[in-house]
Amino acid sequence: MNNQVGIPLRVLVFHGSLRTESLNGRLAALAARTIEGRGNEVDLGAMSDFDCPSYDPDVEHEQGVPAGAESLCRRLKAADAFVIASPEYNASMPGLVKNAIDWTSRIRPQPFNGMQGLLMSASPSMAGGNRGLWSLRIPLEHLGARVYPDMFSLAQAHEAFADAGRLANDVLQKRFDETIGCFLDLVEAAKHYPRLKKQWVEFLGEHPNRAIDRVETSEVGAA
Ligand SMILES: Cc1cc2nc3c(=O)[nH]c(=O)nc-3n(C[C@H](O)[C@H](O)[C@H](O)COP(=O)(O)O)c2cc1C
Repeated sequence: MNNQVGIPLRVLVFHGSLRTESLNGRLAALAARTIEGRGNEVDLGAMSDFDCPSYDPDVEHEQGVPAGAESLCRRLKAADAFVIASPEYNASMPGLVKNAIDWTSRIRPQPFNGMQGLLMSASPSMAGGNRGLWSLRIPLEHLGARVYPDMFSLAQAHEAFADAGRLANDVLQKRFDETIGCFLDLVEAAKHYPRLKKQWVEFLGEHPNRAIDRVETSEVGAA
């Protein structure tokens, strides 16, 4: 149920808020400590590292992809998996998170393709921002990411953290640990025992045409 005796992994962990006191930042930090506590390496990022101006095809044409997207791409490629703790804004993901994904999706090879990802959220609400994660899952899966089926949403997050940084509720803390442990087991299997071959086609259903085809073939987790 955990990768403590497994081969160390490198995981990019970041949160989707620019707020200094971000609850999702606290959840991301807790995830990072949990992953490191299992003998893995964490690259802990923040949304400020990846923030981009609003996507504009003209800007892309004239200036290329902004530094935030380049950075997200580089750090994804250096990792075996990613974890995002994202706020929920109006029952969806924050615009800046989608914007960073859109810019990053313009880079080839497209870095989300074949990556294992785990989604989590924190919100003062009773639903813990869970609806936002369902919207976040869509572009990531579209881009070929292997988004872990289980997600972790922390309800009433403004009251949920204990002083030591752990979750105040022991049962929730156990569930959090188990979710991360099971995810890491899958990442380890995908990295070291790759059997799954997949193809990513950006525009499924379009007429095949060598000049405009955007197709990538990969073995999930293959070195
Ligand atoms: C524009 C906006 C829309 C929001 N919509 C929701 C929402 O739909 N559901 C929810 O649970 N919280 C919503 N919130 C509250 C956020 O969950 C809360 O501000 C949270 O602390 C944001 O995450 P952060 O602490 O990581 O910045 C919204 C906040 C803002 C600013």
